[in-house]
Amino acid sequence: MSILEASRKSVALKHPLAALSFYMGNKKAMHEAIILDAAKYIFGANTDLRPWKEALLEITSYDLIPANKNTYDVVVGNNLNTTFGKWIWCCVRVLQPDAMIETGVAHGSSSWIILNAMHKNGKGKLFSIDLPNHDTNKDYNFNMSHPETGWMVPDVLKKQWELHLGYAQEILPKLLNQLGKIDIFFHDSDHSYEHMKFEFETSSPFIRKGGLMLSDDVHKNKAFSEYVERNHLKALQFNKGGCALAQ
Ligand SMILES: C[S@@+](CC[C@H](N)C(=O)[O-])C[C@H]1O[C@@H](n2cnc3c(N)ncnc32)[C@H](O)[C@@H]1O
Repeated sequence: MSILEASRKSVALKHPLAALSFYMGNKKAMHEAIILDAAKYIFGANTDLRPWKEALLEITSYDLIPANKNTYDVVVGNNLNTTFGKWIWCCVRVLQPDAMIETGVAHGSSSWIILNAMHKNGKGKLFSIDLPNHDTNKDYNFNMSHPETGWMVPDVLKKQWELHLGYAQEILPKLLNQLGKIDIFFHDSDHSYEHMKFEFETSSPFIRKGGLMLSDDVHKNKAFSEYVERNHLKALQFNKGGCALAQ
């Protein structure tokens, strides 16, 4: 099965007003149109869109537990200003996962989104894997101000968090065996073809039917598209972020 493009370009004709407001500088309506269309595609035309709309409204009202701030006020990583960040938020709110695994924490931006959504759910646990002192190369290094992994996540959100420090190659198989089943897997660690393939193949049998395989940076190589094709999955891609429905 091919991967559907969930982008501005793909929805502009169907949502001309959203496209117009996007070009006038307001991204909100366009992001919402992309996400609601994506939910319909992944979960089927009859899926109830009300919980998705409510989850999107929560982002707008920004009634969230704030992240710990750095002195530079820089946010790197997935955030709620992008369609993929919003999609992650909505998926956690709508699917109400009991167990979710994420590989790649860095400063903790995506962990903070997921944990805020789980906090609102009043249930669920996020199991995250990263290296002890996360990769501070390139734009993940803002003057090494906060080298410890996941420093952005405030203490109040840590009740629903288990952070495992070490190589995903070692930790992921053990963690999956220990959990048995998970609802959502999110890859955002080493984006080499070999590593992405390893994470998709290792986690796939543990994702429950109707759960999700999420991955950032799917554009970097063919690991995600090959995984989708090999398993005949329904999948879409938001710019760099991919999502496939587990069967
Ligand atoms: C792109 S960043 C994660 C960004 C984060 N998900 C976000 O949205 O804020 C990638 C992270 O993966 C970690 N990483 C790279 N290779 C890894 C491996 N083999 N095992 C575990 N973590 C790894 C790096 O230390 C880095 O912090």
